Amino acid sequence: MVRYPFIPYQPERLSPDESARRGESFYRLMDRRRSVRDFSADAVPRQLIEQAIRTASTAPSGAHRQPWRFVVVGDPEIKRQIRIAAEAEEKKSYEERMPDEWLEALAPIGTTWQKPFLETVPWIVVVFEELYGYDAEGNKRKNYYVRESTGLACGLFIASLHNMGLSTLTHTPSPMAFLRNILGRPKNERPFILFPVGYPAAGATVPDFGRKPLEEVSLWDPKPDPDDNS
Ligand SMILES: Cc1cc2nc3c(=O)[nH]c(=O)nc-3n(C[C@H](O)[C@H](O)[C@H](O)COP(=O)(O)O)c2cc1C
Repeated sequence: MVRYPFIPYQPERLSPDESARRGESFYRLMDRRRSVRDFSADAVPRQLIEQAIRTASTAPSGAHRQPWRFVVVGDPEIKRQIRIAAEAEEKKSYEERMPDEWLEALAPIGTTWQKPFLETVPWIVVVFEELYGYDAEGNKRKNYYVRESTGLACGLFIASLHNMGLSTLTHTPSPMAFLRNILGRPKNERPFILFPVGYPAAGATVPDFGRKPLEEVSLWDPKPDPDDNS
């Protein structure tokens, strides 16, 4: 069993005013983030992608297993293969697999099975969840809360990209097994989310919708409803 020494931890204690200022400023920054589906081919330095992955990898994870892999693709030929495979799956999904209710939910966003941006963007980052790992002797080692942990890492990844002025799309061309084949990943890794990363194309647009207000997404000290017998 690995044992870690414990070290003192006291992050800087801010005044309530300073906390409020930083909270407001971070909220304003994040509220400007939008998913982009029309990218320019402008180059993005590799160091920026590395920085976002480093930031993502600070996420908490079940039993500190850090069960994520960020697989970065810049090779135009691999991007082309990903586009072809993603469009084949998405075409089947849009035309045969998605129920009407799902198609109706997507209609306002204006998505289709076509994904030309997968070839245009300078980088595609495919995040894999590591279903289990291996110990030093090569025995299978269980990971915990893999989806939750990888989701948290993806959230930090998106926030880091946005903070650096980069754009992305949380893309799930379903089913995503083709990504494991194209990228040659082992069977203990499962594709989780594909992130094209770059800058929006000139003239790119996004749907003009707001976000649910605080009152709708939060409850404070709720009590059980005495009339609810469910
Ligand atoms: C788990 C997840 C999967 C998503 N998959 C897709 C996708 O496959 N294609 C797509 O165009 N958008 C996808 N989205 C993006 C959402 O449509 C988008 O986040 C939502 O419309 C809100 O817009 P915003 O990100 O600009 O705030 C996905 C988002 C999440 C969280």
